[in-house]
Amino acid sequence: MSWETFTKLSFQFSEVGLELDLSRLGLPEDYLGSMEARLQSAYEAMDALEKGSIANPDENRMVGHYWLRDAALAPTPELQSDISETFAKIKEFAAKVHSGEVKGSKGAFTDILVIGIGGSALGPQFIDKALGSPSKDKVRVHFFDNTDPDGMDVTLDAIGENLGSTLSIVISKSGGTAETRNGMLEAKTVYEKKGLKFSDHAVAVTGIGSKLDSVAVSEGWLERFPMWDWVGGRTSVLCAVGLVPAALQGLDIDAMLEGAKEMDTLTRSKVTTENPAALLAAAWYFATNGKGEKDMVILPYKDRLLLFSRYLQQLIMESLGKEFDLDGNVVNQGIAVYGNKGSTDQHAYVQQLREGVPNFFATFIEVLKDRAGDSIEVDSGVTSGDFLQGFLLGTREALTEKNRGSVTLTTTEVTPKTVSHLIALYERAVGLYATLTNINAYHQPGVEAGKKAAGVAIDTGLAIIKALKSKKGEALSAPEIAVAIGQPDNAEIAYKLSNHMAANGKAGISRVENGAWFDAKFVAN
Ligand code: PA5
Repeated sequence: MSWETFTKLSFQFSEVGLELDLSRLGLPEDYLGSMEARLQSAYEAMDALEKGSIANPDENRMVGHYWLRDAALAPTPELQSDISETFAKIKEFAAKVHSGEVKGSKGAFTDILVIGIGGSALGPQFIDKALGSPSKDKVRVHFFDNTDPDGMDVTLDAIGENLGSTLSIVISKSGGTAETRNGMLEAKTVYEKKGLKFSDHAVAVTGIGSKLDSVAVSEGWLERFPMWDWVGGRTSVLCAVGLVPAALQGLDIDAMLEGAKEMDTLTRSKVTTENPAALLAAAWYFATNGKGEKDMVILPYKDRLLLFSRYLQQLIMESLGKEFDLDGNVVNQGIAVYGNKGSTDQHAYVQQLREGVPNFFATFIEVLKDRAGDSIEVDSGVTSGDFLQGFLLGTREALTEKNRGSVTLTTTEVTPKTVSHLIALYERAVGLYATLTNINAYHQPGVEAGKKAAGVAIDTGLAIIKALKSKKGEALSAPEIAVAIGQPDNAEIAYKLSNHMAANGKAGISRVENGAWFDAKFVAN
């Protein structure tokens, strides 16, 4: 890369110690100029959003995650005090837990179990991985982020004898998400089996008046923290969703909020070259042709940022992956996001990035500071951190040689502030990109559809149990079961559900082989 191109297309943001290098993307000379009018419209839309417009029209909601970091920006005094009071309550609760004033049946809380999914888990998981330190944290953090029974058992095994000093934090904005409800019920059962009262070890983070909120009230849980309808799940890490676990862990939540506020200030600029989020959104637009034609590979060269790609996968794909634009046209928008960390991934799929199908652009994330203390030399004059950077530079160069574009983001170190810089940067870039592509980034009809579809399968499963039990001892094939439940066209689903029930011995159902696998029969005994 020539020094001239590098200096022309690399942007320094010393206020937040960030550098954004777009020089390896192949941007034409006048690209940013050609995007300027559209970016100005995006700034206008973002202004309106921050002032409380209904930026999520399908759900008729305001979009207010930026207010969390600067409550004074919230459009009404009520919202402003809601935000400040909630943050004060989070800190007060964490202080009481740390002092032992609020404690579990077996003493001061040593562990927390976060029960949530999607936007109600990914943020806390990312924060824990990025900022947690086993020897310094005030509590150990565990997650139930799925309805996988075995996954929950593994987590409970890690909690082990500490259950009586484990605080469960049940997080669900809607308060009705099946996976989270199941996790809560599974946890509750285990506490009760050990003679512990779940309500003495539980707090809720949820919308006021939700099903979860009602349970927390009626059972007298230790505390409840609100989730507002104007904060989306995937942008909720800097409200109670992320801040309650972080504060309990002993992380500096003021610094986290301050970091996001700093980035928000910077990314409100209407001078494109002074706005890293706008530059990023414009870069994505160029790299994907504004239509998601290329995937975004996130490669942080830092173990602590391992979950950033997973966090961004949700933030970007759930926000931008939309069937319709704001005018109702079918657009099937989105950008696919994947990645883990460098240099580890160089020993895996980076082979394809270098030589295979050129259907991606990479984002390298470089962290300047290697570690808190000194490093040994692994070769004369060379540290492990030098190798880490060497691998980043080498891979980037190899991609450039093969005309595979990349963006490089450089930050100073991984701290509560810099992690929030990254979060706020990408939140804003997603919002701006959504305007460039004219889509609603703040709803998730596909997620809701998935939730409903699972409910249908559960109901069909119950119908199968009923049908097989009514024909006790009589073995039926999948097509016969489908007929028996009044869904003759649903033999495939009848097979899948019956097979799962038989594997788990559910309702006394077993599988009877009958020649070819598809002729297998199922019987309730
Ligand atoms: O970002 C989103 O909106 C989703 O991923 C939700 O966070 C997820 O479905 C969980 O929903 P809830 O917090 O209502 O349980």
